[in-house]
Amino acid sequence: MTRTLITGGFGFIGRYLTLMLAEAGHDITLFDIVSDDAFLQQAGNQVSAVQGSLANWAEVTGTIADTKPDHIIHSGAILPPASESMPQAAFEANITGTYNVLEASRLFNVDRVIYASSIASYGPDAPRELVPNDFAQHPTGMYGVSKVCSERLGEYYHRRFKLDFRAVRFPPIFGLGRAASSGWTAYTSLAIEEAALGRPYAMRVAPETPTGVLYIRDAARSLADIATADNASLTRRCYSLRGFVVTAQELRDAIMRQMPDAHITFEPDEQITAFIKSIPQELDDSLARADWGWQPRYGLDDAVADFVATTRGT
Ligand SMILES: NC(=O)c1ccc[n+]([C@@H]2O[C@H](COP(=O)([O-])OP(=O)(O)OC[C@H]3O[C@@H](n4cnc5c(N)ncnc54)[C@H](O)[C@@H]3O)[C@@H](O)[C@H]2O)c1
Repeated sequence: MTRTLITGGFGFIGRYLTLMLAEAGHDITLFDIVSDDAFLQQAGNQVSAVQGSLANWAEVTGTIADTKPDHIIHSGAILPPASESMPQAAFEANITGTYNVLEASRLFNVDRVIYASSIASYGPDAPRELVPNDFAQHPTGMYGVSKVCSERLGEYYHRRFKLDFRAVRFPPIFGLGRAASSGWTAYTSLAIEEAALGRPYAMRVAPETPTGVLYIRDAARSLADIATADNASLTRRCYSLRGFVVTAQELRDAIMRQMPDAHITFEPDEQITAFIKSIPQELDDSLARADWGWQPRYGLDDAVADFVATTRGT
């Protein structure tokens, strides 16, 4: 039985990943600054939790020493907009936190550390349409800086100490559980969730605005898949992933196909539309496909159908 420690285990991705790995028979410990007994009960008795902070060396190292995980999936972090309003806290959780996870993994002989990186690791000099896997990363915000720094630290531990570090770079992810407070890219999730709950929703972007997204179940599965990929076939430690591009109008059309009575409107905000347009649309995932067989399973209609069913508990 694989023992897996998931940092940020009570987060959006952490919860889907926990349920997926619990079903596959893993023995799982969630390490998070928050806790949720109702989720633990839902996840079953192979799942336990330790409450602590990534920024606290004693709490990270104590948890790794006690639980002796085979794999750590490191998804705990402070995300925008909180990372930008509290940059020092983000530095401590996201950069010191990654250092703590890597160093404790080295000391306690953890087999493998899997890291959740982001499209936000690229900066304004990245191509708008398709970003090559190894394109230079020049982010301008603390969150992006923390993601690049974590990737490079992981590569350093791999080079210097032979720690088996692997990372995926996600585009914006959508699915049930994406918080409304998690930034302007959350509209793709909120439009579907509100419609599934029978409530109206106004998208704050122009209908023709395209955005690249990945469905949450594909995102969670990618972490499980890269964790079991054959090391000999990996040519990189960090791999970009791609889902699909959807305009706000196409998203509305897909929602209407599932729920013809849905009330989705557009109330474009110039600043929000400009921000969404400034994010690269897609990351080139051809290396991930070639090296470890990555392939998303959900297209737009499948994802909307699954999202609606999950929201309604059907
Ligand atoms: N959601 C996305 O669209 C997206 C896109 C790209 C990358 N990512 C990355 O995926 C990972 C998971 O993101 P998510 O969407 O699940 O975010 P989330 O905010 O839902 O989950 C993050 C979790 O980390 C925990 N956390 C924060 N600070 C902590 C600390 N100091 N110590 C311990 N735990 C702490 C939070 O309590 C939370 O449960 C993050 O590393 C994020 O950067 C997410």
